[in-house]
Amino acid sequence: MIDMLLVEYQNKINARLDMLLPENGMYYDSVVKASRYSLLGNGKRIRPILLLEFYKLCGGDDDCAYNFACAVEMIHTYSLIHDDLPCMDDDDYRRGRPSCHKEFGETLALLSGDALLTEAFGVASKTMGINPEYVVKALTVLSANAGINGMVGGQVMDVEGENAEFQSNYSLEMCRLKTGALIKTACMCGVILAGADESKISAAANYGENLGLAFQLIDDILDASGDSEVIGKPVGSDVKNDKKTFVSELGIECCKKMADEFTKKALEQLNMFDGDKQNLTELTDYLLHRIK
Ligand code: IPE
Ligand code: IPE
Ligand code: MG
Ligand code: MG
Ligand code: MG
Repeated sequence: MIDMLLVEYQNKINARLDMLLPENGMYYDSVVKASRYSLLGNGKRIRPILLLEFYKLCGGDDDCAYNFACAVEMIHTYSLIHDDLPCMDDDDYRRGRPSCHKEFGETLALLSGDALLTEAFGVASKTMGINPEYVVKALTVLSANAGINGMVGGQVMDVEGENAEFQSNYSLEMCRLKTGALIKTACMCGVILAGADESKISAAANYGENLGLAFQLIDDILDASGDSEVIGKPVGSDVKNDKKTFVSELGIECCKKMADEFTKKALEQLNMFDGDKQNLTELTDYLLHRIK
C-alpha cells in the first residue's frame, strides 16, 4: 500500500521536476545538465511527499502545491551535491551513481548547487491556485529553515564537529538543523499552503522536527550497517570522516530505540488533525524501518 503510494508520488514529482528545469541550449547549459543529473537521480522524494500529504490532510487540492513541493526537493538536492564535495564529506557516490562532482567536476557541482537553491525560490514563487499570502508565508518559513539558522547552520556544526569530542546536546542540535529543519519545513509548508491555523502549523512543525531526528538517526545507522547498492551512497562515510554520531558513540541498538521514540512523538502530533491520517501514519512507520 505505502509502496504504491510512494511510487505514484515519485512519478508525478519526477515528471514535474523534469519540466521545471529544462535544458536550454545556451552557452551555460552545462550547469543545467549537471543540476538535472543530480535532481533526477534516484531520490526517495520524502520531503515533497510530506508537503503534499500535509497539504491534502488540511484540505488542499494537491496539484496546486506541486511546484512548492518540487522547490523543497531542489533545495534538498543542492544540499546533497555540496555535502558530497571533497571539502565536505568527500563522497563519490550518490543516488545510485557517481556524485555530481565526480561526473561534472567540482566547479560545476558547486555552481549546480547554487543554481538549484536559487531556482527553487523562483519555482516556489510561481505556485498557482493558492492564496498568495499563504505562498509568501511558506517562502519565509522555507528560507529561514534552509539558511543559517536551519540546514546551513547544521552543516556547519557537522563539519566543525569533526574530530571534536562527542557531546550529545551538540549532536542533537546538529541533526535538528542539518536534517530536521528541511523536513520540518516540508510539513509546515503543506499546512500553511492549505491555509490551516497556527495550532496545525505548530503540530506539523513538531511532527517534522521529531521525524527529522529519527530520519537522521536511521541515516547514520544505514551509513554504518546498510548496503551501499541499496542506499545508493557509500557506507562508512561517517567513520571515514571521523564524524562523532549517536551511532559511533552509543551503538546501533540504542539509536534504533531513540529513532523509535522520536517516531512515536511525531505520530502523536498527527492527533491534532481531523482528516484521514492513514497515508502519513504509514509513511512515518515506513521511514523508521527503511533500508534506503
Ligand atoms: C539524505 O537524504 C540526506 C539526509 C538529510 C540524511 P535522503 O535520504 O532523503 O536522500 P534522497 O533524497 O533519498 O537521495
Ligand atoms: C547530510 O547528512 C545532511 C544534509 C543536509 C545534506 P549526511 O552527510 O549524513 O547525509 P548523507 O548520508 O551524505 O546523505
Ligand atoms: Mg554530511
Ligand atoms: Mg554526507
Ligand atoms: Mg549520512
